[in-house]
Amino acid sequence: MHGPRKAAKNPNSDRTMKGSLKIWSAALVVAGCLSACGADCNKERPEQTNPTLKTIFDRRSVRDYLRRPVEAEKIDLLLRAAMSAPSGRDRRPWEFVVVTERPALDSLAAALPFAKMLTAAPCAIVVCGTPERQSYWYLDCSAAAQNVLLAAQSLGLGAVWTAAYPYEERMSAVRSRLGLPDGILPLCVIPVGYPASDGSPKQKYDPARIHYGSW
Ligand SMILES: Cc1cc2nc3c(=O)[nH]c(=O)nc-3n(C[C@H](O)[C@H](O)[C@H](O)COP(=O)(O)O)c2cc1C
Repeated sequence: MHGPRKAAKNPNSDRTMKGSLKIWSAALVVAGCLSACGADCNKERPEQTNPTLKTIFDRRSVRDYLRRPVEAEKIDLLLRAAMSAPSGRDRRPWEFVVVTERPALDSLAAALPFAKMLTAAPCAIVVCGTPERQSYWYLDCSAAAQNVLLAAQSLGLGAVWTAAYPYEERMSAVRSRLGLPDGILPLCVIPVGYPASDGSPKQKYDPARIHYGSW
């Protein structure tokens, strides 16, 4: 007796079947990835749509500048931003010196070991403080300095904080070159200009530095 006849196996159709299965699984994997990315990529990220967050996240220290002056209106905005900073008991213990003369910028560059970029900068804002008005003037003035950096970023300018305070030698070099009166201390010199090259901000976010509730 012959049992039921086994269908004759066609090796070619088997191969074709395996091939299409592979293609379908590959397609499913790609579709899966695309839909996962799609959900994520379509989500509006606040740092891309919120201009304030974008400015904060995009800011970087800029140390090379185009040979292009900074418009007076922009310098004015930087100073207005500086003076919008918070300060303890609203004492506002700050003063600002705007330097745009080449000899003065070069002279500051010569005196400050880590501010040589001043030789290329068309402008610098020197953030100064009045300890008589506030013993912790350097905290309030730091908030003002950070506002200058962020405002510069938002206006398409580049800037960098270069330290005067707390280094006695650097502070006295700035004081003598800019004729600061007694009782006025320089916190930092901020060279400002149009960035000469593109650059990316450093990625500094570190969840390990965050402690929720208690340490
Ligand atoms: C208090 C302080 C002092 C700094 N002093 C200098 C300086 O003298 N020269 C300089 O080139 N950069 C100086 N910087 C800039 C830092 O090097 C810079 O902020 C840091 O490397 C992080 O890079 P980023 O600003 O691009 O995020 C100073 C920054 C701060 C906050």
